[in-house]
Amino acid sequence: MKAIDIRNKYLKFFENHGHKVIPSSPLIPENDPSVLFTTAGMQPLVPYLLGEKHPEGKRLTDYQKCLRTNDIDEVGDNRHLTYFEMLGNWSLGDYFKEESIQMSYEFLTKELGIPSERISVTCFAGDEDCPRDEITASCWEKAGIPKERIYFYGKEDNWWIAGEEGPCGPDTEMFYDTGKPKCSENCEPSCDCGKYVEIWNNVFMEYYKKDGKYTKLEQRNVDTGLGLERMAMLLQGKQTPFDTELFSPVMEKLQSLAKNDDIASRRIVAEHLRASMMIICDGGRPSNLDRGYILRRLIRRMTRHLNKLQIDLNELPNLIDLNIDTLHEMYPELESHRQEIKDVIVTEKDKFMKTLNNGEREFNKVINKLKNQGINKIDGKTIFNLYETYGFPPEVTKDLATENGFEADLSKFDELFKEHQEKSRMGSDQKFKGGLAEQNEKTIAYHTATHLLNAALKKVIGENSHQRGSNITTERMRFDFNCDHKLTPEEKQKVEDLVNEWIKEDLPVTVETMKKEDALKSGAECMFIEKYPDEVTVYTIGDVSKELCGGPHVKHTGELGHFKIVKEEASSQGVRRIKAILE
Ligand code: SER
Repeated sequence: MKAIDIRNKYLKFFENHGHKVIPSSPLIPENDPSVLFTTAGMQPLVPYLLGEKHPEGKRLTDYQKCLRTNDIDEVGDNRHLTYFEMLGNWSLGDYFKEESIQMSYEFLTKELGIPSERISVTCFAGDEDCPRDEITASCWEKAGIPKERIYFYGKEDNWWIAGEEGPCGPDTEMFYDTGKPKCSENCEPSCDCGKYVEIWNNVFMEYYKKDGKYTKLEQRNVDTGLGLERMAMLLQGKQTPFDTELFSPVMEKLQSLAKNDDIASRRIVAEHLRASMMIICDGGRPSNLDRGYILRRLIRRMTRHLNKLQIDLNELPNLIDLNIDTLHEMYPELESHRQEIKDVIVTEKDKFMKTLNNGEREFNKVINKLKNQGINKIDGKTIFNLYETYGFPPEVTKDLATENGFEADLSKFDELFKEHQEKSRMGSDQKFKGGLAEQNEKTIAYHTATHLLNAALKKVIGENSHQRGSNITTERMRFDFNCDHKLTPEEKQKVEDLVNEWIKEDLPVTVETMKKEDALKSGAECMFIEKYPDEVTVYTIGDVSKELCGGPHVKHTGELGHFKIVKEEASSQGVRRIKAILE
């Protein structure tokens, strides 16, 4: 049975049982800044689970687009997905355990034709917060599941809540027995050897958890969730979701294009491409924050694995077309976003390739050095340096390290990263206190633009062009530099274009502290070396600029807006002056 047929059967079945079919909410939650993505069908329904009246009544059903990001690094194995579709049915203070279980059993056995012997179920074993769920167990027995296939587990397995606070309750989970032999005498549904696969979860939501305490909700709800990809895989007798019609066209295409085939890489590309498309379709864009960063990570990881497969990156638009053609029956909204999806993914891929090329060289140096020393672990400080100096993302370092048989100490990296954030926060607090109160977003942006302009002038006029002075207000920047002629219109245009190109590339602006002489040796630019103390801070912008500077600066050049030269004039003998604005 194809995934779309399972979805349609599900919605029809629950409609026939008095439920109203409601549309999927967007993947990016509306009016809920507390979560990055919709992770479960119940999420958009929280107000109604808490008692608000739903306009469509007390029995609802839908399919929900979901994204779960905790396991991104696991994608590539035979089961993990970030994006998936969840089929769900809800009782908002209407039916409870018995009817919910009857309907689930009927749907699985009659509609989907799963033999009853293949089904095992689990129930909540009880603790000080909530009693053992004998009622659920007896409902299952009544429905047709014998005692020996009913298991009891504690909160780790049979209690459901999204996060730390919210509506929650004991659940009952249904498992499909794949028929594989038991991995040991104690092999049960809770075992993850692969014999038992969880297919559906019915939560009996009658509690609310806050500050670690449980109180009863005003109404008793049922919230169920069935993972569509997994069900399609089982009903089609496939070993992985990637073998179903949802992924197989892309998987096969990737295989035919790959010069260096690797199944895990193909799964990563297929999965991350689908997830990225769904996020972009619902309005997500790559950035360095929160959900934007998740999208960025997905596109980066996908790009890396396309490279690993030795597939020409220019194939990306064709792969996106193929994916949309595969999925458009399920998600017709993809069609009208076709071009936009391609533009966002290709632009992000281009940006990443630049970072990757710079950082990978450096990464290889590090690896070779460690290899020579007989070390097989990259320490947190090195990961941090790669990030700080080359904008090389820690997760990419980790991926590359694993591929090279190295470990990567990400937890130390996280520590250093937090420390660094704290330091720069304290640093800028101090600066604001120290009389630079006029520093604001605008002047900080101009300050970074000054570095870019300095670098652009060197490229256009020559390495001998140096900064001779600068003055910044919230309205404009003024920059003096040595140059023996009035800039031609072409030179001005070139300088402007270069700066804007770097802004568009959203280059990371990173800072490090070092000894003055080391800074100079590293080739950092500076105006009056004697003015600086022995310990200096050096700001690096991608691979275009490195300057001794006290800061502060923006974190990424993308924050600057559009750069425009408004005037170019003489300042003094051999010194020219540019006035420019950020629009
Ligand atoms: N909320 C539960 C889950 O996500 C059931 O839908 O598994």
